[in-house]
Amino acid sequence: MTRLRFDGQVAIVTGGGRGLGRLYAMELARRGAMVLVNDFGESSQGEGSDASVADHVAAEIEAEGGIAAASSDSVASAEGGQAIIDEALARFGRIDIVINNAGIIRFTPFDEITGDEWRKTLSVHVDGSFHVSQPAFRVMKGQGYGRFVFISSTFGAFGQLGTASYSTAKSALLGLSNVVALEGAAHGIQSNAVLPVGFSRMVTDQAADAEVPPGRQAFYDAIRPDLIAPLVVYLASRECNLTHRAIAACAGRYSRVFAGYADGWLSDAGTTPSAEDVAARIAQIDATDGFFVPNSSVDETIAVCRQRGVDLSKM
Ligand SMILES: NC(=O)c1ccc[n+]([C@@H]2O[C@H](COP(=O)([O-])OP(=O)(O)OC[C@H]3O[C@@H](n4cnc5c(N)ncnc54)[C@H](O)[C@@H]3O)[C@@H](O)[C@H]2O)c1
Repeated sequence: MTRLRFDGQVAIVTGGGRGLGRLYAMELARRGAMVLVNDFGESSQGEGSDASVADHVAAEIEAEGGIAAASSDSVASAEGGQAIIDEALARFGRIDIVINNAGIIRFTPFDEITGDEWRKTLSVHVDGSFHVSQPAFRVMKGQGYGRFVFISSTFGAFGQLGTASYSTAKSALLGLSNVVALEGAAHGIQSNAVLPVGFSRMVTDQAADAEVPPGRQAFYDAIRPDLIAPLVVYLASRECNLTHRAIAACAGRYSRVFAGYADGWLSDAGTTPSAEDVAARIAQIDATDGFFVPNSSVDETIAVCRQRGVDLSKM
């Protein structure tokens, strides 16, 4: 296959000043993209700010011969999101790619989360992705082309102890990406979600020990962060024709994550089952051996109505 290139294309990478986002920004730039590196420079718990974080990565890209600009606005406000879009347009004239990557995390048991922590986490991930993506979507619609990558998490898809605010935020991004994919389809806009596991301060912050035990070091080595960038770069490319997908990347394994409907139990037509009927069939309802993966919520309604013999084309 010919090398994927991004010459003449403009990419915005939020949270591009550190960790995984920095690697996405660097790789896109190496392949010819003009990159707006956005980073507010917060701690991984969402404290403080540091404009030099984005500046450093933009300078790194330029030192390698690439084209980059820096933005230190926070994605968490509407003004910040618009400023990021305006900066990309002012510097480079168009927007082809948005990688919604900025993120923070707090580890707190569910019954101890404060309202402030809850809102802060959702404001960076969920509000932030909205504030950047909506104005970017409008620009892409005008161009008839665009690629979104929403950085979600297996925590959001499957849950993880002590991460209620983060996991809620990350699962919301799966929903947002799905709808951006559906609404973008008519305008040449694709959207996919990535669920990464990659070594960064977000991973090491979870471990309190000053010295890393040898067993854990092997784990850190296995989840090298540069193993995530190839997937993100592919999904951001013109050559990618997948949309409406969620793909996990962990330790060099890349695999689709999907929500599907199990075959379930189709109750008798014309009856309203009782709670006891549900109880009697719960194993069948709970089974996952047969399933289908719809392309939208409507697909499921159509499929069940077909099973019932209802013709929705006459609606
Ligand atoms: N590292 C992993 O294993 C892992 C797993 C699943 C998901 N993720 C997600 O990947 C993304 C990158 O994580 P990372 O591990 O590289 O973490 P990181 O802390 O190294 O990088 C996140 C960057 O986002 C920036 N940021 C935070 N709030 C911001 C805001 N309001 N506006 C702009 N920038 C902001 C931070 O300053 C930081 O540089 C995050 O969304 C994270 O939730 C990471």
